[in-house]
Amino acid sequence: MNWYKIPGVQPADEPFIKRIKAGGKSICLVNYEGKLYALSAICPHAGGDLSDGWCEHSKIVCPIHRFSYDLATGKGTEGQNDYIESYPIEIKDDGLYIGITGFWEKIKQAFR
Ligand code: FES
Repeated sequence: MNWYKIPGVQPADEPFIKRIKAGGKSICLVNYEGKLYALSAICPHAGGDLSDGWCEHSKIVCPIHRFSYDLATGKGTEGQNDYIESYPIEIKDDGLYIGITGFWEKIKQAFR
């Protein structure tokens, strides 16, 4: 897993949803009820931008057709049968980092 520093983002009291780029991925960074989450920004249903959505009941809601995904796991709501990638976050002294596992690394892990 590679860790990417996200410049200009500090943990904050104010809730936010931001679209950022890290490790070649479009990531939706969410501050919801005082906790940070990093998820894929692309809705798997039809490509909606989740960073234009909103949060309710610990889920992010896609603005296009209102599919929703658990902020912590990325799991789609029951009946959707889909998910979005979720990424670990670390807050270090020098800023915020997001951990991303590359495609080939995932393949290698699958065969261990
Ligand atoms: S594009 Fe996100 S729910 Fe359809």
